[in-house]
Amino acid sequence: MPTKPAPHSYHWCQVALHWLVAVLVAAQYATGGSIGRTHDAVAHGLKAEPSDLILHAIHNRVGMVIFGLVLIRLVLRLLIGVPNPPGNAADWRSRCARAVHWGFYVILIAQASTGAIASYLFWPVGRVHVAFSNILLALIALHASAALWHVFVLRDGILNRMLALHGDRTAASLVANSRSVDRPIPVNRMNESAH
Ligand code: HEM
Ligand code: HEM
Repeated sequence: MPTKPAPHSYHWCQVALHWLVAVLVAAQYATGGSIGRTHDAVAHGLKAEPSDLILHAIHNRVGMVIFGLVLIRLVLRLLIGVPNPPGNAADWRSRCARAVHWGFYVILIAQASTGAIASYLFWPVGRVHVAFSNILLALIALHASAALWHVFVLRDGILNRMLALHGDRTAASLVANSRSVDRPIPVNRMNESAH
């Protein structure tokens, strides 16, 4: 069966959703601690801080919004696809990037699900939720460091395709750069490049 060719750039919806989810995930780390504080206070027979109750409510709702947005991202990915990684798709760096990207989908869905189960059904699952939040943090650190490596060391314009709300120019620069960085010069053209 013929497969659909990969697009040259991300659709603006994919770009917007990428950054919206990134900001909302940051909000989850800022609000997550309020839940432990609320439960500790109640366990000690004290009243929870009103600000913690608000942060707790925000955390639960934002988490559910993230769940919905990640599902939309998955549908878009399946419908539109995503651009190919620069260079050789079999290269270990491309494989790692793909694994991290899919890892994000899996862990964000697992994170929202375990959070909801811990909140509304079975509290001990909270421990899994906390463990996943550390794995997610490690993935984010890896992913952001790789993006910065592309920006400052490889300078191949890869961040541009996740920044631009239109993709033609940035996609073109990426293709041009990936040709010069990753593809070996054919033997019969070596002499030309030496002059
Ligand atoms: C995908 C988005 C989510 C992320 C990134 C996230 C992240 C976090 C983080 C960082 C913590 C604090 C962990 C710590 O104390 O070290 C936390 C705690 C918690 N979150 Fe979430 N969360 C998400 C979604 C949700 C949802 C949707 C709910 C509920 C509807 C929820 C409920 C909870 C609960 C109950 C805790 C306390 C767990 C415990 O202390 O045992 N979370 N979350
Ligand atoms: C919670 C934070 C983040 C999550 C969950 C996340 C997730 C993802 C995912 C799943 C993709 C694959 C494309 C897709 O399926 O739409 C992607 C691509 C990308 N992300 Fe992130 N990201 C986050 C933060 C960041 C940050 C902080 C940066 C920059 C410093 C960044 C830069 C990029 C770039 C440049 C791409 C495109 C890579 C390519 O085209 O191969 N991301 N991100």
